[in-house]
Amino acid sequence: MVSKAVLPVAGLGTRFLPVTKSVPKELLPVVDTPALQLLIEECARCALDDVLLVTAMGKSSMEDHFDRRLDLEAELAAKGKDAELAAVRDLAGLARIHSTRQGEALGLGHAVLQAKAHVGVDESFAVLLGDDIVDPGSDFLQRMIAVHERTGRPVVALLEVQPEQASMYGIATVEPGEQPGEHLISGLVEKPDPADAPSNLAVIGRYVLPGTIFSVLEDLPPGRGGEIQLTDALEHLAADEPIVGLTLDVPRFDTGDRLGYLQANVELALRRADLAPALVPWLRELLHRIDDGDLDVAGPADA
Ligand code: UTP
Repeated sequence: MVSKAVLPVAGLGTRFLPVTKSVPKELLPVVDTPALQLLIEECARCALDDVLLVTAMGKSSMEDHFDRRLDLEAELAAKGKDAELAAVRDLAGLARIHSTRQGEALGLGHAVLQAKAHVGVDESFAVLLGDDIVDPGSDFLQRMIAVHERTGRPVVALLEVQPEQASMYGIATVEPGEQPGEHLISGLVEKPDPADAPSNLAVIGRYVLPGTIFSVLEDLPPGRGGEIQLTDALEHLAADEPIVGLTLDVPRFDTGDRLGYLQANVELALRRADLAPALVPWLRELLHRIDDGDLDVAGPADA
């Protein structure tokens, strides 16, 4: 049974400067909820009740967010703000949250390796990337865990990308798998030139991995960008026996990227009954102003 989740959240967030100089990108709000909270709620839905944050210097506010805040709770209780009180207090009960430090941002594979002592080498575990939001409320990670339990193989999430986007992701060499949406991955290449990409299927930030990945990571030389790459470790695993890729069939947002972050905020706000009734007419009006040339937009509006 998979009960542990590892969340690497030690990265520098250089794509999102300047805010990430002082605020961890994993705490940037999607509407009003930190991206990291959405991830830990996802863990809770999957019965992953033991969560390890792999963090770094200057990012300890992430742990604080999931701690009790008694002064705030007392204030909310005194004012009868019950919904707010529950929202604040219930955070601490989402999971048992542990943390360890990466020390130096030497790559995603290196961050996952820091979880070895906590997870151990005999257990499978889930990995969720701190800036990858998979449709809140979806059961996608649960389905990945079910595939792992059925096949005994490592499982990764695959996203169909445009050919020109291949150089932003780890791209998989695939054959059809046993069930619809499943692929057998025999190889992976990190950020290939589009011409060299083996498919249009990119690995994104959800993984169910065996404890054996730690010994692979320990022996791995630095890869692309001088970093210890998780993709390279997966490539080693896939060389022994295929790993399973489950194609994402729900929306996903890369909130470590400015555009992905904005899209997450708009789409998830549109799902909220408290915001959508005012947001929809405002968006329509905004689009009309763009179409009518009444709003200054950088670049062509239909680009
Ligand atoms: P990213 O590559 O998106 O994170 O890694 P980054 O390096 O912080 O971002 P940019 O590219 O500079 O903007 C995906 C996840 O892996 C974590 C990040 O915190 C993020 O949640 N990560 C990455 C680590 O924990 N350690 C690392 O050395 C690299």
